[in-house]
Amino acid sequence: MSNTRHEKLATWVEQMTTLCQPDAVEWADGSQEEWDRLTQLLCDKGIFTRLNPEKRPNSFLARSAPSDVARVEDRTFICSRRKGAAGANNNWMDPHEMKALLLPKFKGCMKGRTMYVIPFCMGPPESPLAKIGVQVTDSAYVVVNMRIMAHMGKAVLDRLEGEATGEINTGRDGHGNFIPCLHSVGAPLEPGQEDSAWPCNEDKYISHFPDTREIWSYGSGYGGNALLGKKCLALRIASNIAREHDWMAEHMLILGLTSPEGEKTYISAAFPSACGKTNLAMIVPPEKYAKAGWKTTIVGDDIAWLWPHEDGHLHAINPETGYFGVAPGTSYDTNPIAMDSMLENSIFTNVGLTDDGDVWWEGLTEEPPAHLIDWKGNDWTPADGEKGVKAAHPNARFTAPAKQCPTIDPEWQNPEGVPISGIVFGGRRPTTMPLVYQAFNWSHGVYVGATMGSEVTAAAIGLKAGVRRDPMAMLPFCGYNMAEYFHHWLDMRGLVKNLPRFFHVNWFRLDEDGKFLWPGYGDNMRVLEWIVNRCKGRVAGHETPIGWTPHWEDFDAEGIEGFDEKRFDDCMAYNPQEWKDEILSQGELFLKLYDLMPKELVFQRELLAARLA
Ligand code: OXD
Ligand code: MN
Repeated sequence: MSNTRHEKLATWVEQMTTLCQPDAVEWADGSQEEWDRLTQLLCDKGIFTRLNPEKRPNSFLARSAPSDVARVEDRTFICSRRKGAAGANNNWMDPHEMKALLLPKFKGCMKGRTMYVIPFCMGPPESPLAKIGVQVTDSAYVVVNMRIMAHMGKAVLDRLEGEATGEINTGRDGHGNFIPCLHSVGAPLEPGQEDSAWPCNEDKYISHFPDTREIWSYGSGYGGNALLGKKCLALRIASNIAREHDWMAEHMLILGLTSPEGEKTYISAAFPSACGKTNLAMIVPPEKYAKAGWKTTIVGDDIAWLWPHEDGHLHAINPETGYFGVAPGTSYDTNPIAMDSMLENSIFTNVGLTDDGDVWWEGLTEEPPAHLIDWKGNDWTPADGEKGVKAAHPNARFTAPAKQCPTIDPEWQNPEGVPISGIVFGGRRPTTMPLVYQAFNWSHGVYVGATMGSEVTAAAIGLKAGVRRDPMAMLPFCGYNMAEYFHHWLDMRGLVKNLPRFFHVNWFRLDEDGKFLWPGYGDNMRVLEWIVNRCKGRVAGHETPIGWTPHWEDFDAEGIEGFDEKRFDDCMAYNPQEWKDEILSQGELFLKLYDLMPKELVFQRELLAARLA
């Protein structure tokens, strides 16, 4: 076991070793040698399959247990001292009770395994907002994924040690401290026993202790349950820290838009899962825009940390260094930038394996391969697909390094972040919501974000049709009471001199025949151009009761087949009856959070009702 000069860290790792009783302890250094060794180890155990090096160099397919394929929201807990602090939006358990329940489970849970110690840093290491965590885990899959998703290994440990001894002064908030993250798949091995497949436990607990800033995750090896820097630290714990220190941890992409004149505008955008956040972050503008000289660049596709910078603007960093994106539906048609980001050095979890050693998933190509091995390891042909057997699990993922992204923004690792001019909210709404509208001001914008929702159709997901409210797309990720989170958003207004503008977009509105009114994808650039122009105060808007919408003359629809002024009006239409229903359906959220709901948002709803009357 290699030692550390950081006394607190050494003590904690010792305690974790005593608790979990691993056979060995290994400090992850983040080196290429380590990657090569661990990926080979995972191949030897049958958890990884090396992909064809000619087609997909240094890349691997992982197959998880069929029961361990997604985040487990009903097993996710915010263990604040007071129940009210967690709010109706979270599962809660008393922190002492949770620890008493989990300690026996963690006791000896790593028998027969290696415990890896992963020092990692969320955010550019020199950023004042950067956060250092240390995860102990018995999963080599976690180590190699973390190497893509975060700064990790020796450099982070050196920094933490240097901070603790006073040799380095970075000005980093939380100087010398780390967030301890305990993770186990919960599958100890008997002496002589070896893994033959993905280890996990049916009993799962993803527990957060916001008061002591700790994470204990047990039983799952998958994604957000196991890569603790992502949802657990960068959103649930970070949202608690952010609230106390006047910044914001948000489920947002960050996108740069450079005009032909060279003017750069950054926006951030929050959409619930499966509403196209990664696609928008990697948007390829229509040819007309590219020819004119527009450029789009990505800072981040999932998480943004925003703070009032001393220059008077709201700045944002992406705490991650990779993409953990949903594979099905991703293709050279829908997202060529994502496709090019995962050409090598990538991990694919729960996708199909083609006969020539590459990956396939639903939507990758129009024609499925004649034969492949599906995500469960079974033979698969298109005939199986027709029977509804999926080649890839619908939540199959690619883990790809951000530095491989062809449109990565040159400022993406700037410790000072990038200045945000517009904040965009959106959801999947077949009705009601226009293609785009702008909120009147900050508090109206917070109301728009707080009440955002996504509509599901019974056909699509087998759920009752209706709107599910997902405030700021943070419902599964806000680590404290959602009503207090709204207060925090409203309070931030006073700390930012140059306020960003707020918008709401909806790419998913349907016409009377149930067809999409708007082509989406690259053409969303046209909406973004209007957003940029509004942020810069260059175009007038059309004032409606719900907010500002574009005038036809200010909206560039040239080149979209069949898109005329009538269709534009259909996209932008505001229907009073639909909006009355909308206000009524928001009532459920307001009631759920009634005890602490900010008055300002209650009044915003009243004002909207008054404008509709
Ligand atoms: C999510 C993700 O589930 O980003 O939101 O993985
Ligand atoms: Mn996400």
